[in-house]
Amino acid sequence: MLKTKRYTITAALPYTNGPLHIGHLAGVYIPADIYARYQRNAGNDVAFICGSDEHGVAIKMKAKEESKSPKEIIDRYDKIIRDSFKNFNISFDNYSRTSLKIHHETAQEFFINLNKKNVFIEKETEQLYDIEAKEFLADRFIVGTCPICRNEEAYGDQCEDCGSSLSSLDLINPKSKLSGSKPILKNTKHWYLPLNKYENFITEWIIDGHKNDWKPNVYGQVKSWIDNGLQPRAVTRDLDWGIPVPVEENKNKVLYVWFDAPIGYISSTKEWAKKNNKDWEIYWKDKKTELIHFIGKDNIVFHCIIFPSMLKASGDYILPTNVPANEFLNLEGRKISTSKNWAVWLHEYLEDFPEQEDVLRYVLTANSPELKDNDFTWKDFQSRNNNELVAIYGNFVNRVIVLINKYYQGVIPKAESLSKYDFIVLNEIHSIPEKIGKSIEKFRFRDALKELINIARIGNKYLADEEPWKLIKTSPNRVATILNTSIQVVGILAYLSEPFLPQTSLKLKKLLRIELFDWGILRNKSILKEGHIINQQELLFKKIEDKEIEKQIDKLKKNQSE
Ligand code: MF3
Ligand code: ZN
Repeated sequence: MLKTKRYTITAALPYTNGPLHIGHLAGVYIPADIYARYQRNAGNDVAFICGSDEHGVAIKMKAKEESKSPKEIIDRYDKIIRDSFKNFNISFDNYSRTSLKIHHETAQEFFINLNKKNVFIEKETEQLYDIEAKEFLADRFIVGTCPICRNEEAYGDQCEDCGSSLSSLDLINPKSKLSGSKPILKNTKHWYLPLNKYENFITEWIIDGHKNDWKPNVYGQVKSWIDNGLQPRAVTRDLDWGIPVPVEENKNKVLYVWFDAPIGYISSTKEWAKKNNKDWEIYWKDKKTELIHFIGKDNIVFHCIIFPSMLKASGDYILPTNVPANEFLNLEGRKISTSKNWAVWLHEYLEDFPEQEDVLRYVLTANSPELKDNDFTWKDFQSRNNNELVAIYGNFVNRVIVLINKYYQGVIPKAESLSKYDFIVLNEIHSIPEKIGKSIEKFRFRDALKELINIARIGNKYLADEEPWKLIKTSPNRVATILNTSIQVVGILAYLSEPFLPQTSLKLKKLLRIELFDWGILRNKSILKEGHIINQQELLFKKIEDKEIEKQIDKLKKNQSE
């Protein structure tokens, strides 16, 4: 019997303070989705978990900017984000929200448990306070003059002009963004997670234990955090938007958003388990479960140091087997920026390229910032579509289906004796599923995709070499064999495309009139039997014209000059 493994696969919970852009998709959600789909196809038990991250200062800021309540903001973006995930076929088993009751309770229980175990240090510090608004001020709510470059609009945590990271107490002439008044210093008490006590644990677990199997970009970042020494981190905040700190003396204190958000993976799993009559605990506590976090590089410290320390401190949780964080995707040579509107927004993409979600999935995988930052350009988008999806994948599939319909009324012909070349092609094709699997298991999605397109490339070359259309009069048996061989290649392509290009895979399966399946079938020499009837051809991809690309580039430039 096939031994199945259990996977808890998480994708970073997006903040509901804006829509998603291509950087999100390339960095986190496409690799996570390919991985989850692959593991399901391999027959494994998968919980693919995500949800909206709805607390924190960023959301309060956004609400303030738009004179809306935080609740209105999160509802709006939760909807937009959900739609984008659906439209790009990200196959979450559950997509939750951290504003739900189940999450508030889970996060509070988590805190209470750690508090009971005396894990936290309680400390009083002085923090800036707005007397008029009667609120403590998060760094982002304080503006003032940068002590380094004298920019008058530096934030409490950073000056965007000179790039220095600041502490709000360094600012000259600090002002509250809430009331404009000058903040005063006031005492406040917070709960700290003493990360310094977890240095040995992280060192043994990651620095000594995962040097060879974790991505070098992830490993390197963790190592530099450890080399610099870890400090206690506050896990509570003075804020009126978030999950109340579950202690009696609490006065307007909430859990720090980075304390509650990763617990969101657990509450989302609970929600899913409840709906599906499953036991959530085995997905988080059974040592045989593989926990994999898909994130962007700015989330590494939280997923490799802080959250694991929380899990470790609470006792019975498993730790991630791997955290395959990606680097960043740039756009036309520049950093993607929400505030500067230098981005390709997912909902806008689909307006301009309706039903072409797989094209973007393809390009973002081919160009994924796996080990270093990478660049998305519209020209590259166009040429990958036209030269790879249309000219190789689409063209090969189309030729085979057209010829079988033309010569055999759509009935797959019988293969007579196979030539040496037929054997070589079939053997080569049959070695590809394993190669793709191995690459995906190592989080090398670019390599895996190259192998996929290689299938079509081999098929295309085979047809071009054999030229069945020239033989139909003289050697009909040979044509039958060539087309039988070719349709096997199309069949494998249909199945193997599923994790990468789910929509295309589905279309292709409909064209071939084949069902969903498990990848075990790929071990059969012939996937499509002689006598099986296929449908008429239909185009899978279409050429993207220069003017469509110019329109996108103009749109970016226009955003810039506004
Ligand atoms: N909202 C965060 C971001 O977009 C990611 C949260 S991941 C979680 O950077 F682990 F906290 F859920
Ligand atoms: Zn500055």
